Amino acid sequence: MLLHTIKEVREQVKEWKKEGLTVGLVPTMGALHNGHLSLIKKAVEKCDKVVVSVFVNPIQFCPGEDLDKYPRTLEADTKLCNDAGVSIVFAPSPSEMYGQSEMRTNDFLTYVIPPFFYVNKLCGKSRVGHFDGVCTVVNKLFNIVQPDFAFFGQKDAQQLIIIKKMVKDLNIPVDIVPCPIVREESGLALSSRNKYLSEEDKKEALVLSKILNNIKDCYKKGITDVEALKETAFQFLTDKHELEYLELLDCEDLEEKKIADNNTRVFIACKVGGVRLIDNILLGE
Ligand code: PAJ
Repeated sequence: MLLHTIKEVREQVKEWKKEGLTVGLVPTMGALHNGHLSLIKKAVEKCDKVVVSVFVNPIQFCPGEDLDKYPRTLEADTKLCNDAGVSIVFAPSPSEMYGQSEMRTNDFLTYVIPPFFYVNKLCGKSRVGHFDGVCTVVNKLFNIVQPDFAFFGQKDAQQLIIIKKMVKDLNIPVDIVPCPIVREESGLALSSRNKYLSEEDKKEALVLSKILNNIKDCYKKGITDVEALKETAFQFLTDKHELEYLELLDCEDLEEKKIADNNTRVFIACKVGGVRLIDNILLGE
C-alpha cells in the first residue's frame, strides 16, 4: 500500500497496534537496490508489519550536493516493496514532512542535533549539518510510525552510530537493528549513487574496497600501528581517485585509535569521476 500522508500512516499503524502486531520501519531515500532490500527482508522476517519510508530528505543535503538530481524511482520502489511483503510504502512530499519550514533557514524548524564529538569527523566534516538533517527526519519518522524495530545498514556506519546514540539519549522506544553491507561481486558496496558512475568509473571505484580489504589483511598479519596501516592505501590511489578521508576509529564510539584492534572500523570516503563514495570494514569480523 502506497501512502503519502502522515495521517493515513498513523491510522493504519494504530489499527495494527490494537491487534498487538509488531511494526518494523526501514527508512530510505528510495532508488532501492539489493542493499536496501536486505534491510527490508530482515524487517519482514522479524516484524508482523513493515513500513518502508521513501523520502529524499532535503534538510540532510548540503548546498551544492545532489538533492535535485538524486534518483527518484518511486514506482519501481513500490513494486519491489510489495513483492518483498512490505505493508506500507510511505512516500511523503517535502511539504507533508516540513510544511514550508525546510525552504527557509533552520531558524524555522526544530532540529535534533547529535553530539559534536560524533559529527566532527568522517562524513560530518565535509557535510556540515548533514547529521542534523538525518537525526531530525529519522526522529520524525519514529514519531509518525512508532516502530518496535528500525533497520539501518552498516554501509553508513557513522549514521548508524549516531542514530543509536540519539535513541539512547532521547529514550526513544525503538530497537535499532544493524544490517551488514551488501556488495557487488566485484566488492563495490551497493549505493543509490552508483547510478552516477560510468562503467570505467565503476572499475575505479573498486579502490575503496581494495584499500579496506588490504588494511584488514595487513591487520590479520599482525600490523596494528594505525599510521602504518593507513600508509598501505597509497599504492592503490591514482589521479582518478580523490581521497577525502581514511580513518581507523572505535566501532562503537568513534574514538580515534593509534593501535588497531578487533573493534576498530576502517572508514573511507573517496571521489571517483566526481561521485563521492563511502565504505567501511570492521577489522575483527
Ligand atoms: P539511503 O541512503 O537510502 O539508505 C537507507 C538505508 O539503507 C540506510 O540504513 C543505509 O545504510 C542502507 N544501505 C544503503 N546501501 C546499503 C548497502 N550496500 N548495504 C547495506 N545497507 C545499505 O541512509 C539514508 O538513506 C538516509 O540518510 C535516511 C536514514 C533514510 C534518512 O533520510
